[in-house]
Amino acid sequence: MSDFKHIPVLFYETVDALNVKPDGIYVDCTAGGGGHSSAVAEKLTTGKLISIDQDPEAIAVLTKRFENNPNVVVVHDNFVNIRSVLNNLGIIGVDGVMADLGVSSHQLDTDARGFSFHKDAPLDMRMSMSGMSAADIVNNASEAELRRIIYTYGEEKFAPSIAKNIVKARENKPIETTFELVEIIKASMPMKAKRDGHPARKTFQALRIEVNQELTKLEKALDDMFDVLNPSGRLAIITFHSLEDRMVKKRFNSFCEGCTCPPQFPVCVCGNTPKGRLPFKSKAPSMNEVDENFRAHSARLRAVEKL
Ligand SMILES: C[S@@+](CC[C@H](N)C(=O)[O-])C[C@H]1O[C@@H](n2cnc3c(N)ncnc32)[C@H](O)[C@@H]1O
Ligand SMILES: [Zn+2]
Repeated sequence: MSDFKHIPVLFYETVDALNVKPDGIYVDCTAGGGGHSSAVAEKLTTGKLISIDQDPEAIAVLTKRFENNPNVVVVHDNFVNIRSVLNNLGIIGVDGVMADLGVSSHQLDTDARGFSFHKDAPLDMRMSMSGMSAADIVNNASEAELRRIIYTYGEEKFAPSIAKNIVKARENKPIETTFELVEIIKASMPMKAKRDGHPARKTFQALRIEVNQELTKLEKALDDMFDVLNPSGRLAIITFHSLEDRMVKKRFNSFCEGCTCPPQFPVCVCGNTPKGRLPFKSKAPSMNEVDENFRAHSARLRAVEKL
C-alpha cells in the first residue's frame, strides 16, 4: 500500500481549468493518490486545498503525502457531503472544485480490493471499504435487477444470460470470488464475443458503479459542487463513462441556461438568468496520453465557471 501508483489523467488540462489563484480555496473531491491535489497545492501561497476521498487507504496516503503542507486539509468523506465538509471547516465559498471520477489504479491493482477481473480475490469493489459489497449484490439482487445493472452501467449486451447464470450458480453456493464470477460470465457468452476484450470487463464495471452508487452520488452532488463556488469560481470534472459524461454535460448546460420562456412570449416571465458559463466545450486526452495510460482512453474533462 505504501506506493500508491496512479497516473493522473488530463493532468495539466484539469489544473488549468481550475484557474488556481495563490490565495484561493479549492476542493479536490476525489483526491486518490494526490496527483491532481499536489499540482493545485503547488500553486498556493496563502490559499487552501481540501482533499476529499471516501477510501481509507487513499486517506492514509494523502495524510502522509501532505503532512508537511499546511495549505492542505485531508478529509475522509464522500463528496456527496461537500457542503457539510466545508461547513465543518467554517468555509462558506470556494474558488474551485474538481473531481476525477471512477476508480484509482491503487484500487484496481490491490488484489484484495476485488476490483480486478485479472486477480482472484473476494468479490468486494467497495471504494469506501464499508457497506454493500459486489458479492452482496451478486448473491441477493433479483435476476431483473442484475440484468438492469449489467445492461445499463456496463452496456453489456449479454446481460440477460449473465444475470440468469448468476442466479442459477448461486442456487448451489454463494458467489464469493472475482474468478467465480468471471467463469460465470465467460459461460454466458458465445465464443466469438470472448475475443472482444476481456469478457468480464463490462460486468465488472457495472457492478463497481452499482456498489459505489457512482451515478447516484454524482447526480446528488453536482448542484452542491456548483453552489459552493464563489463568483468566477470553477468546477472541473473528469468522467470515464458515457452516462456520467452525459449527466455532467446536461447539468453544466443547465447552469448556463438563461430565460426558458417560449420564443413567442413578448417579455420574460420565468426570470431565469444564466448562473454560469462554459470556458470550453470539453477536452479529451491526447493520443500520446492514451498510449501512455490506457485508463485515459474514455476520459473527458468538462468545466463550468460561476458568473
Ligand atoms: C480516479 S481516482 C483519483 C485520482 C487522483 N486524481 C490522483 O491524481 O491521484 C478516484 C478516487 O476518487 C475516490 N472517489 C470516487 N467516488 C468518490 C466519492 N463519491 N466520494 C469521495 N471519493 C470518491 C476513489 O476512492 C478514488 O480514490
Ligand atoms: Zn424567461
